[in-house]
Amino acid sequence: PLIALGRQRNEEKRNLSLGGHVGFDSLPDQLVSKSVTQGFSFNILCVGETGIGKSTLMNTLFNTTFETEEASHYENAVRLRPRTYDLQESNVHLKLTIVDAVGFGDQINKDESYRPVVDYIDTQFENYLQEELKIRRSLFNYHDTRIHVCLYFITPTGHSLKSLDLVTMKKLDSKVNIIPIIAKADTISKSELHKFKIKIMSELVSNGVQIYQFPTDDEAVAEINSVMNAHLPFAVVGSTEEVKVGNKLVRARQYPWGVVQVENESHCDFVKLREMLIRVNMEDLREQTHTRHYELYRRCKLEEMGFKDTDPDSQPFSLQETYETKRKEFLGELQKKEEEMRQMFVNKVKETESELKEKERELHEKFEHLKRIHQEEKRKVEEKRRELEDEMNAFNKRKLAVETLQSQSLQATSQQPLKKDKDKKK
Ligand code: GTP
Ligand code: MG
Repeated sequence: PLIALGRQRNEEKRNLSLGGHVGFDSLPDQLVSKSVTQGFSFNILCVGETGIGKSTLMNTLFNTTFETEEASHYENAVRLRPRTYDLQESNVHLKLTIVDAVGFGDQINKDESYRPVVDYIDTQFENYLQEELKIRRSLFNYHDTRIHVCLYFITPTGHSLKSLDLVTMKKLDSKVNIIPIIAKADTISKSELHKFKIKIMSELVSNGVQIYQFPTDDEAVAEINSVMNAHLPFAVVGSTEEVKVGNKLVRARQYPWGVVQVENESHCDFVKLREMLIRVNMEDLREQTHTRHYELYRRCKLEEMGFKDTDPDSQPFSLQETYETKRKEFLGELQKKEEEMRQMFVNKVKETESELKEKERELHEKFEHLKRIHQEEKRKVEEKRRELEDEMNAFNKRKLAVETLQSQSLQATSQQPLKKDKDKKK
């Protein structure tokens, strides 16, 4: 019924004309002023082999000198190095983060080269999601580190993409806006460059790599963007050197045979890149990052955590309900685990008890056995004692008899001489 009421109201919507100036036409200005005071952030990821000209291009793009140090060719693994700078142009503040994939393409085994890059991008998404899920969110002054664009530096071989390039771009294309660029384009001749561009694009298409397309749905930029889409990948030249051409100082690279002017459109696509990346589509890159790549990450992550928008009967399912079911599920599982643990404990106790009983029985038996042995021994000793006593008694008896006999015979011998004397007297 509520929906029906809403629809009815919508149908009743009428156009009215205003009697005078009210002022809500200043809303866009209010938005601009708010955004300007808040400042902007833009995060660029540079992926390309060591020494391909990443730092030089960044310096050229932003017309400044960022701190840079050369990477060594002996990194054990690819490492992501973010650096944040505060830039200001007229009254607009830009918090620019440049992330370098240090050591990319330098390992002998490059199977896992893409992984640190993917992990880095995911970590930035995760940080943002965590901030969103907080009870006290501060997204307003949160330093958004999500990567808005990945400049993929292609080595100017003139042949084709390397498998490392294809694998890496394929792994990244659902996570970040990829703009492929041919680096050091001054090292490749004009006709070769044309073929090289076609080759790269066809390889990207046949491998299903989705690169960033400049948007053509906004009338104001549709024309320039569709023209520029046909120029991809941009072939760029970077330089921090300034050379005098005519009576103007321009950024260029000077060679014995001539000068390559960075900002000369017939020399390279640098201006096109700057135009597309910074002057026309920076906001679209930021928006795509939020509405496409981050949204995908968020959806997968929440689904992984078990959140759903609809229940099995495709009825709307609120976050609260999902949370409740998950909580119940979890509690049930916890109870089951607890019961299992308890049972295990009881079993263990029983086992130990019976083991102890068995031990006791053994000990008792041992004791009984020892007791029997002891009694036997005692009995034997008793017998021996009795035997010895008997022997002693017999001996004593014999001794007594002998003694009586002795004393009798002694008496007899002492009476005989008396008789003789009597006889003599007679
Ligand atoms: P690491 O950070 O060490 O990986 O290097 P990098 O990719 O930042 O390269 P860097 O900008 O330090 O440039 C390496 C070398 O390439 C320097 O000698 C640059 O002058 C040179 N270089 C940079 N851009 C270009 C270019 O467009 N064309 C040519 N020919 N050389 C370039
Ligand atoms: Mg560098």
